[in-house]
Amino acid sequence: MSKIVLGDSRNPENYPANVALTITSPPYFCDKDYESDYSFNDYRELLRSVFQNVAHSTLEGGKICINIADIAAFSKVSGRVEEYIGISRDLQDWFREWDCFLLARTVWSKDDPWVNSQHVAYHDKIPATYVRQLPSFEYIWTYYKNTPARKDVGPITDYLSKEDWKRWVSSVWSIRSVRSNNDHAAKFPEELVRRLVLLYSVPGDLVLDPFCGSGTTPVVAYKNRREYFGIERDAGYFELIHKNLEKVENSLERDFVPPPKYKQNKIF
Ligand SMILES: C[S@@+](CC[C@H](N)C(=O)[O-])C[C@H]1O[C@@H](n2cnc3c(N)ncnc32)[C@H](O)[C@@H]1O
Repeated sequence: MSKIVLGDSRNPENYPANVALTITSPPYFCDKDYESDYSFNDYRELLRSVFQNVAHSTLEGGKICINIADIAAFSKVSGRVEEYIGISRDLQDWFREWDCFLLARTVWSKDDPWVNSQHVAYHDKIPATYVRQLPSFEYIWTYYKNTPARKDVGPITDYLSKEDWKRWVSSVWSIRSVRSNNDHAAKFPEELVRRLVLLYSVPGDLVLDPFCGSGTTPVVAYKNRREYFGIERDAGYFELIHKNLEKVENSLERDFVPPPKYKQNKIF
């Protein structure tokens, strides 16, 4: 059932049914090569059509996790220095039309941004009080389809240990961003995806990423014994996804993921 499609995620025909969990990071409209053909209107339309397709493919009680940061290049649209927070608000309005509702807001706290940013500087040509902050965080918005509770799964205690639950139920996660972006310009960290996979799906579930990039979501889904479905329009990245999947599929890296009741010696 696991599959990667080379194609456009705006096309509803590229989607599977019965998706239990989507974990994705769309383009941010921040001048990356892979989004250079989108105007701001195209960009909003892209997000609206892709997430409508995702909502329609999601099963009752399924979850949709969207990792996004506020747009860095909005000054290109408004002509002035201006922070823009509208996309996250648009997402919530759109999802409500498709019977999907916000369950959780997670803040992913990253490294200090001034270390490698060209957008802020400290020198004697900058007037005092003109200080821009760079976002050292991103969001993960988690929506549920129709109902937050799935009827086809057992209790949380069968799947998630109390230790993990305690660590991850707090809504600020500190995770270093990916350092080696030499094969793809904007990968999210495996640890971010792993937590979402373990919190919001069970083994055997189908996990989707409609902006698949280098394949982080399928790789983590595979390692944790979930099925995966990825959509990516760039042929080079499509090959990269297969290369990254081959690496884990040909290794013994697939985690056993014992349910907590094994750990509590109820079985062994
Ligand atoms: C932010 S990156 C995702 C990176 C991914 N999370 C990872 O860890 O590698 C967004 C990806 O969406 C892809 N993309 C952009 N527009 C698309 C479309 N209409 N259909 C499918 N993929 C698209 C880009 O080529 C890019 O690889």
